[in-house]
Amino acid sequence: MLASKYRLEDMSWYQLEVTMLIQLDESKTLYHQIYATIKDRILSGVLPINTKMLSSRELATQLNVSRNIVLLAYEQLIAEGYLVSRPGAGTFVSVAPEDFLTSAVGIVKRGPAPTYPPTTSDYSRRLGTRIQEPPFRLGLPRPRAKYDFRHGHPAIDLLPQKVWHRLVSRRAGKFSRDDVAYAPPQGDPELREVISRYLSTYRGVDAAPGRTVVVNGSQQALDLIARILINPGDSVVLEEPCYPGIRQVVTGLGARIHSIEVDSGGLRTQDLNSIKGPVRLIYVTPSHQYPTGTVMSLQRRLALIAFAKRTGAYILEDDYDSEFRFDARPEKSVQGLDPNGRVIYVGTFSKLLFPALRLGYVLLPDSLLEPFVVAKSVTDRCSAPLAQGVISDFMSEGHFERHLRRVRVEVGKRRQDLIVQMQENFGDDVSIVGSNAGVHLLACFPGLSPENLENAIEEAAKLGVAVYAVDPCYKARPPIAGLVMGYASMSQKDRAEGVRRLRRALSPFIEPAKKAALSPAEKSASQGETELFEVFASQRGQ
Ligand SMILES: Cc1ncc(COP(=O)(O)O)c(C=O)c1O
Repeated sequence: MLASKYRLEDMSWYQLEVTMLIQLDESKTLYHQIYATIKDRILSGVLPINTKMLSSRELATQLNVSRNIVLLAYEQLIAEGYLVSRPGAGTFVSVAPEDFLTSAVGIVKRGPAPTYPPTTSDYSRRLGTRIQEPPFRLGLPRPRAKYDFRHGHPAIDLLPQKVWHRLVSRRAGKFSRDDVAYAPPQGDPELREVISRYLSTYRGVDAAPGRTVVVNGSQQALDLIARILINPGDSVVLEEPCYPGIRQVVTGLGARIHSIEVDSGGLRTQDLNSIKGPVRLIYVTPSHQYPTGTVMSLQRRLALIAFAKRTGAYILEDDYDSEFRFDARPEKSVQGLDPNGRVIYVGTFSKLLFPALRLGYVLLPDSLLEPFVVAKSVTDRCSAPLAQGVISDFMSEGHFERHLRRVRVEVGKRRQDLIVQMQENFGDDVSIVGSNAGVHLLACFPGLSPENLENAIEEAAKLGVAVYAVDPCYKARPPIAGLVMGYASMSQKDRAEGVRRLRRALSPFIEPAKKAALSPAEKSASQGETELFEVFASQRGQ
């Protein structure tokens, strides 16, 4: 205990407390002991707000230490806001313990987490707490299944790995001053040039580098386009069923969603006229409708363009996997057919290369370029320059076109293989929807009730098979049980075994009586598909 030359009755209780509590301990620095003890006393309420502290001189004498040590401790407590020095008056406690979430020893303890959603914005509340994309649960990939039919997983074995490594290390090794700064928000000019050339040549897009913007995947494009165009209550048309990523974007913004059904010719443009009031945005996936896989007919494309012109709506064309058309050349893009500048064209490198790149592109009408680039810059300043540089080299040196040709042939074979496996294992129990295109297909099971699908998926998981329900694509309950199945990334052996196990898992849930409703095996694919859409429509009407 420290000797005191002060008489106890001259000291306030609080001052006494401080002095009594500071028991010097050789294992810690004097400065730290004084600082920590006073802080602890403040946090635990022993020294209430506005308590006058002993002067540094007095405390130093009390503790029998150098005054500089006390001064140091006080300065630290003042810097952290626990004490305040009032010139001419002294040093005072400046915070109350209620200002902190504390325990008696001054360690900050978190209170119970606020229940959702007490303080988040309307936007956050509308977004909800579930990530809509099926493979994810709040940002965490599901534990990897051995037989994973996840859609969107690319044929990574086909990527020319040596070339890729060479290009990455060449770019990464070139570390100049320019390479470490923020890049232009619109994107690397060389990359915009090659993307624009590619889109004009392969997609019939009316492209120009000046109207091209590089984005962090097409999802960012969908989000930013919606944000620059939509106010709460504005009407937006979505396909039904629809890509969940866009539904969540426009829901978050408070748009009024009009879901227009899709049939074997794509979005039923004839139904657009039933919408009352102005339409702000129409989202479509014309090359390969997500998730049904149908291709929008030329008549519908033209009708869509005419509707947009007449009503002043913008068309958002999401061309996410148009490179994968296996039986014919891809249809010309809607953007390339539109003479009125009302189409925003979005594409991605996720399917042809891989999604972790997080790179895509947008072609905008002149009038939307500046607002879009400002929104992009506010969001993330720019897309990562290193990845942009690598893709730019990959495209300009001819690797991209070679890769495209190879992937198209090989992924087409994998698609065909999955169809054969499904038909061999499920026979009449399955109906494959979608044109000969894209990197996924929709497998519908007319004998399986949509309510039982989740249980069937759980059974499949027990056998090491991951499959994904089409449900998130529908605004309400889907009319039929369906799985969105990717096939590009699996080996032939795994695909075959995965389908065999899927058959085992689903069989107990399939009602034989309903099987005969559709038998596409005996019909042409398009006949089967048309019938299936009729079934969709009739189920919905019930
Ligand atoms: C229809 C559609 N649009 C957009 C995306 C988003 O792709 P990304 O953000 O990876 O470019 C996906 C991903 O699967 C998709 O299926």
